[in-house]
Amino acid sequence: MIIAIDGPAGSGKSTIARELSRRLGFEKLDTGAMYRAVAFSALDRGIDLDDEAAVDALASAITIRFTPGESGGSITVDGRDVSREIRTPLVDANVSKVSAYPGVRTAMLEPQRAVAQYHDVVAEGRDIGTVVFPDAEVKVFLTADPRVRAQRRVLQRHGGDVADAHALESEVAETLASIERRDALDASRDVAPLVAAPDAVQIDSTAFTIDEVTDQIADLVAQKRGA
Ligand code: DC
Repeated sequence: MIIAIDGPAGSGKSTIARELSRRLGFEKLDTGAMYRAVAFSALDRGIDLDDEAAVDALASAITIRFTPGESGGSITVDGRDVSREIRTPLVDANVSKVSAYPGVRTAMLEPQRAVAQYHDVVAEGRDIGTVVFPDAEVKVFLTADPRVRAQRRVLQRHGGDVADAHALESEVAETLASIERRDALDASRDVAPLVAAPDAVQIDSTAFTIDEVTDQIADLVAQKRGA
């Protein structure tokens, strides 16, 4: 079975995919991490991100692997662990440019689909239900109020426990600007834009906890299995 979870930045996809895959015993596929790995590798090697051909060539040449584990596992590029490096503001600011290149998307498609060959999968991203796994049994499009998404990102960065939320106000404002910019780029690109599949169930997670949303998706899975 394939569960596709798409949605904008900070909508809770990663946390919910992790929790759901743990509960169901499925593999988890974080496709955003793969685009981040390409962006990081290009920056790290001094490749001009406007040089589409060079970025495409890099995406085809590198080998990206996931190792499952506690707190989300790790990701490597050609054997080097880049789990931390792909989560910096610099990568945040550049990943949408790289992920809009058709050659990069083509290079990522085959390894993404390969994960589902021998496993049940919870896959999360922007185009899972539309392009990567259009036949996924369960499709969810997860959204949340942009300000809430920014607050969640900031809390996540600070370990989830911040006594004085006001102290973080400027960080929330910056994060909000960054995710809105990224959403606009991801939704307006020509290839595989951020859009809900027509058969996706839309869930607005603004007022729900992680567990509540995970329960809702687990119910969809149970319905599918019962059908
Ligand atoms: O989910 P994330 O924030 O880690 O994703 C990082 C970027 O990667 C996102 O801004 C757009 C791109 N992405 C994509 O184009 N297609 C996907 N399936 C997943 C992510």
